[in-house]
Amino acid sequence: MFLTGIERIERALTAVLLAVPGHAERSFLATQISDEARSRIFFERFLREVAGQGNDTASTLRAAERHLTWGFRQIFGELDRVAEALRKKPGDRPVLAQAVSLCHVIIEGVLAIPGQHFIQRYVEKQGLLPGLTRGLSHVALDEARHVAFGMRLLRDMVSTSKDCRDAVIAMCNRTLPWMVGVFVPPGLDSSYSEGFDFTLADVYAFGLKSLESKLERVGIAPRELMLLSLDDRSLSYEERAKRLLVLVRAGVIGDDRREPRLSLEAFEILFDGTARALDVAVAASLGGPIEWDFTDAEPWHVIVTNGRVEAKPGRAGTPALCLEIASGDWAKVALGRSPARWALVTRKLRVHGHLPAKAKLAKLFN
Ligand SMILES: [Fe+2]
Repeated sequence: MFLTGIERIERALTAVLLAVPGHAERSFLATQISDEARSRIFFERFLREVAGQGNDTASTLRAAERHLTWGFRQIFGELDRVAEALRKKPGDRPVLAQAVSLCHVIIEGVLAIPGQHFIQRYVEKQGLLPGLTRGLSHVALDEARHVAFGMRLLRDMVSTSKDCRDAVIAMCNRTLPWMVGVFVPPGLDSSYSEGFDFTLADVYAFGLKSLESKLERVGIAPRELMLLSLDDRSLSYEERAKRLLVLVRAGVIGDDRREPRLSLEAFEILFDGTARALDVAVAASLGGPIEWDFTDAEPWHVIVTNGRVEAKPGRAGTPALCLEIASGDWAKVALGRSPARWALVTRKLRVHGHLPAKAKLAKLFN
């Protein structure tokens, strides 16, 4: 994944270099492109000469291709799209802000650094592959420099332009489910990470912490991101990572080719988020609870008492609003994987209740 990722970053950076406004930024990016080329050659030689994958650049890249996860393909597909958009309109500041947020913050800062950290920790601890260990520490130094540059550029753009700020938030919202998917191993086989002496929960905790601290440093509060706003941020990163993993295992997030199959724990986490997403004033004005009448699972309901929202399993008694839907389809809507409008238009979601309550549906969720 490192090799393919660096090769794609290297290409995207040429578009960023032509779009940044200042000489200093252009000079920095020229050095970054040369760093990326050096790192690419390092990983390429490791894969070819140590791991025996391929016999030239193209065949080594092809050999790496089959190991790429769904999330990885989505993220780098988006990188290609945003780089192409920037090539067509190099003066478009919000597109530049999106390219920098994806390249420097999300891919290099949030995804590559944790991946390298865990592999480097393992080879150092085991005393294996000293050449790889040394190379990884050089790459890590370069990456830290690239991420610091990107964060500074982004912070300036976010603080001076609302359009850039909105564009960065939109990019983070779009890519956050894919970030989760980058680390989902084939067949959810945990031995892919445990073989390197770390768990998937370790990776997610590290990534979540890294993402939130970087967002704050560029001037965006984590709660401004849709998925992070659903999360219980009073919990530790380790607990939040474990809850995320429950949703990954239930097929709710991490690979959109999977259909969700919710466990009891997944329902609890999903409704915890649903209650958090609810507009309390609108929910209270309905004059009664909201019930989810699942076509394939036990019902759940949400009730507002004295301004406090509670989600509970079971029927609501007399609901003001009843949502009839399959549990997997609700999971997709709740996490933004499918738009609620799609569920309504395709009749996967049927809404029952008095007309005034039904009319408030669009305003019910933040
Ligand atoms: Fe880099």
